[in-house]
Amino acid sequence: MTAQPKSLAPAAFDIDRIRGDFPILAQKMHGRPLAFLDSGASAQKPRVVIDTMTRMYEQSYANVHRGLYQLSQAATDIYEKARETVARFIGTPDSREIVFTRNATEAINLVAYSWGDAFLQPGDEVVISHMEHHANIVPWQMLRDRRGIVLRVAPVDDAGELVWDDFAALIGPKTKLVAITHVSNTLGTIVPIAEVVRLAHAKGAKVLVDGSQAVQHMPVDVKALDVDFYAFTGHKLYGPTGIGVLYARAALLEAMPPWQGGGDMILSVTFEKTEWNDIPHKFEAGTPAFVEAAGLAAAIDYVQGIGLDAIAAHEHDLLLYATEKLKAINSLRIIGEARHKAGVISFVLGDIHPHDIGTILDREGVAVRVGQHCAHPLMERFGVPATVRASFGLYNTRADVDALCAGLQRVREIFG
Ligand code: ALA
Repeated sequence: MTAQPKSLAPAAFDIDRIRGDFPILAQKMHGRPLAFLDSGASAQKPRVVIDTMTRMYEQSYANVHRGLYQLSQAATDIYEKARETVARFIGTPDSREIVFTRNATEAINLVAYSWGDAFLQPGDEVVISHMEHHANIVPWQMLRDRRGIVLRVAPVDDAGELVWDDFAALIGPKTKLVAITHVSNTLGTIVPIAEVVRLAHAKGAKVLVDGSQAVQHMPVDVKALDVDFYAFTGHKLYGPTGIGVLYARAALLEAMPPWQGGGDMILSVTFEKTEWNDIPHKFEAGTPAFVEAAGLAAAIDYVQGIGLDAIAAHEHDLLLYATEKLKAINSLRIIGEARHKAGVISFVLGDIHPHDIGTILDREGVAVRVGQHCAHPLMERFGVPATVRASFGLYNTRADVDALCAGLQRVREIFG
């Protein structure tokens, strides 16, 4: 492996060893080393995740919660241990508070359909922010159309931070829920969730946090944050696709009706009446993604082995390095310069369309996301049709940032 440029990350953070854990990073793209800067869309997988899933398919595979035989019990044991791993990872001692879903989108929809339909009345208000991903906008619009609730949107300023006074003014006696991102997928802004929760709880509102862009970047403790619901997805956390997590307080889950019916979410069924299973199984209808859950647990063990604090420090170093280098590029405008950011940088380059930039960067071996990032209202807010987004994972290096900047110089040469 080639030596990487100097980094300010902690000495214990062995980037060469970490990169060696991710088989895909050894590939070349168009004959160039791969600079993978799209972990915000989906992160690459360490070998331990791939091996854990293969081993389960080879040695411990049978449906869970349904067989008395040894294989099924082994699979069930792995699945429920994965739930405990997730619970510990986000700071709850009670694994019944962890519902496995397909992804964060499904976790948010679960809350909207189950809690929203059961407990919200026409005229009740849900407050979101202008920097939400569509996954934390559309389910509330659909709830508005079903239940007649009112959706209120907290503004963001030019730096991409929540306008706090306006946000606070939106939360009143009718507010039943604040649904907000922890880290903006487009701007990288870190939202001060503990303060959001204090404000919302003081007015009697519950708080749902979309943590899809947070849990892979920094330590998250749902009990310390005091959130009511916390959603995240496995595939951005170096785990497999098809597995996500909804954390909810046990008392809320107990009170909420199931939102999908089927096997495993019941204790008994007659044609007249069905009795629901206990939490969290009440919310896991059908065969769950148990191999993916095992893969997610392996991913969590992996990042915890490195340490979220060390990962955060490494990515912060990359963020500062990239911000400085990008700002030096003529007519490059960074979209989102909040004081507290995770490893996400969106930008535009003059009037060159981001799709053209993405295509040229690809030829240089640099993978970024270009477009609207499932955040159409935010693009409108910043008056841009689309952006280029570089997002960091724990395996990125300053060399990846250098490749991005060299690719942008190439774009400049082509467009003049
Ligand atoms: N939500 C993912 C992203 O931000 C797909 O790219």
